[in-house]
Amino acid sequence: MGWNSWNKFGCNIDEGLIEQTADAMVSSGMRDAGYRYVNIDDCWMAKTRDSLGNLQSDPIRFPHGIKAIADYVHGKGLKLGIYSSAGTKTCEGLPASLDHEVADANKFAEWGVDYLKYDNCNNEKRPAIPRYTAMSNALKATGRPIVFSLCEWGENKPWEWGKQAGGMLWRTTGDISDKWTSMIGILNRQVGLEKFSGPGGWNDPDMLEVGNGKMTFNEYIAHFSLWAILNAPLIAGNDLRTMSDTTRAILTNAAVIAVNQDWGGQQGSRLVNDTVTHTQVWVKPMRNGGRAVVLLNLGTTATSISVGTADLGLRPADKYQATDLWAHSIQEVHDVLHAGVPAHGAAMYVVRTGK
Ligand code: GLA
Repeated sequence: MGWNSWNKFGCNIDEGLIEQTADAMVSSGMRDAGYRYVNIDDCWMAKTRDSLGNLQSDPIRFPHGIKAIADYVHGKGLKLGIYSSAGTKTCEGLPASLDHEVADANKFAEWGVDYLKYDNCNNEKRPAIPRYTAMSNALKATGRPIVFSLCEWGENKPWEWGKQAGGMLWRTTGDISDKWTSMIGILNRQVGLEKFSGPGGWNDPDMLEVGNGKMTFNEYIAHFSLWAILNAPLIAGNDLRTMSDTTRAILTNAAVIAVNQDWGGQQGSRLVNDTVTHTQVWVKPMRNGGRAVVLLNLGTTATSISVGTADLGLRPADKYQATDLWAHSIQEVHDVLHAGVPAHGAAMYVVRTGK
């Protein structure tokens, strides 16, 4: 869990933004809710390497260097992430790490970096596995624990080899944008990937757009609920310094985060895809035997969605207890869970055997 600069800021980043974001992560309660990584995406580096061939930060936007930011972020009880590409240049045309893996990994470790997002631009069509493995080996050789995030866009099915190549998470698709159709398109492409995700190596459907302004409140509730049930990395992508109380409440919903962090053996999967009513049901086993459920309305009018407790895989019982993770209410359920769900929205529950 963390934050990344790209979705909101693109290349418009500097050291003030990163440090203020770390401050906001603490003051907003996000750190206490579990968010830890403050990740700088593309555009932190200078246009050229230094005279020794090392990456260096942009002298105007990051004049104090990355180590100073790492020290600042660590001082807040947080961790620092950085970005490069397994190519000759980043997606924005800046120096990147292909054939410089050892030197760059050593710099990242020396600066105190805790996380590397490793992109796929300008890869010269060289095969993915050796490109990603080379950086993983270089990171490991530094001796510093650094989370290795493969941003390969799902091109070569990284869910099949990502863990072997040292990845701890791997993007499964191209980039998200702050639009309902983009978010739902990515969601539908997670179907079938459930079995590849788990402790030590996670499917990554890309960073959150919650709070960036182009989706509605209900759409953001759906986005956050779905990413939680997918056990997706929860990497906020909004401006934490100025977010509304509503956005903060979505990102820090403890019950939804608890579903995301629970490992009951499989990430959430799509149980129902009803193309007539435009509704879907997603379900995830919880460690304690309950089921997390997202009832998703893809349609443009409010509707009611139902699912049988047996279909959710719950063991037979007279009654169940369903906790509504957004309304914070508990109801007794017998054979069927029902909910009214707004247009482009979702309801989310944890259902367990009642007492
Ligand atoms: C690619 C990645 C994005 C972002 C940009 C930066 O598109 O998939 O997440 O890192 O590059 O240029």
